[in-house]
Amino acid sequence: DLGGYPHYMAKEIQEQPECVERIIRGRLDDRFGVARLDGLNLTPRELRGFARVKILGCGSAYYVGQIGATMIEELARIPADAEAASEFRYRNPIIEADTLYIAVSQSGETIDTAFAVEEIKRKGGRVVGLVNVVGSTIARACEGGVYLHAGPEIAVASTKALTNMAVGFALIALALGRVRDLSNADGQRIIDAIRALPGQIKSILDFEPEIAEHAKTVAAAKSLFFVGRVRGYPVAREGAQKFKEISYRHAEAYQTSELKHGPLALIDESLPTVAVVPSDELTERNLAAVQQIKARGGAVLAVTHENVDFGELDVPRIVVPKTEPELDPILLTIPLQLLAYHAALTLGYDIDKPRNLAKSVTVE
Ligand code: BG6
Repeated sequence: DLGGYPHYMAKEIQEQPECVERIIRGRLDDRFGVARLDGLNLTPRELRGFARVKILGCGSAYYVGQIGATMIEELARIPADAEAASEFRYRNPIIEADTLYIAVSQSGETIDTAFAVEEIKRKGGRVVGLVNVVGSTIARACEGGVYLHAGPEIAVASTKALTNMAVGFALIALALGRVRDLSNADGQRIIDAIRALPGQIKSILDFEPEIAEHAKTVAAAKSLFFVGRVRGYPVAREGAQKFKEISYRHAEAYQTSELKHGPLALIDESLPTVAVVPSDELTERNLAAVQQIKARGGAVLAVTHENVDFGELDVPRIVVPKTEPELDPILLTIPLQLLAYHAALTLGYDIDKPRNLAKSVTVE
């Protein structure tokens, strides 16, 4: 049921504030500044024993896994990384007893991710799931997990499930952090910020008409770059992925820091860049990169925060509310969903069922 929306993607984007309410409900413990995740089936002692975290997923779930890895490193100070489950399962991965493996999947049926889980279990690793569909193959195969509670997602391009995955990672990072060096006060700081997310997402959605205007400009280009660094890089990757999936435009994600090592050669009037420029310790460096792109005639659309000063640079902006720095990627991703949606709408493509793609890939 479309509930009055023109597409499921539009409906699912709008549902995000209530979806986030659902994933956090009953899971935030104010007294101890921690997340309560009983479904993980891990004791505090076990949680404390992990020396590394490895996150596995495909497509958008892989990119949000990268967002999660950064959060876990920042909040829990445990080395963490994300890998495409589709590659992991084919490369005879080394499975370590002191690594926590996290499988991420909306459907819980993606065969590459399901095989990665089996491979980990066969080799004696501990794997938990971050899954939306209750009772799905991956959810059942994992030894514990966090359900996303995003509700059924119909559009092939994932939106609300992804946002809940990112919030789910914040909860896991909090749980891992609070059995280590994250203080009660810092835990509380993150809890307060998590609680504010639904309202902040709502305020981003209010800017949809303006984002739609930006989308018209961006859709005119045949090819574009999405750039970000550190926290912003997986945001750029996911933004480019959405763009490719539904607007059929060539969209390439790059680390902003790597532009000068090659791709800057491609920049001219015909190749616009969507730049993720949060207000954080890297703002000045990001602004310097924007300046370099502009100097070569490239147009830039920035996804940024209110207090970032672009000075003389003539750069249209999508301004996102600020949260705690570790959680910024959750909010920075939202306008990029709307950008891809409106670009596809402008171009007249089939938004909910893009060509050549399936909602979940369950065959080899
Ligand atoms: C891909 C879909 O095939 O599977 C992507 O086209 C999706 O949109 C990916 O992100 C992973 O799906 P899931 O269900 O495992 O999250």
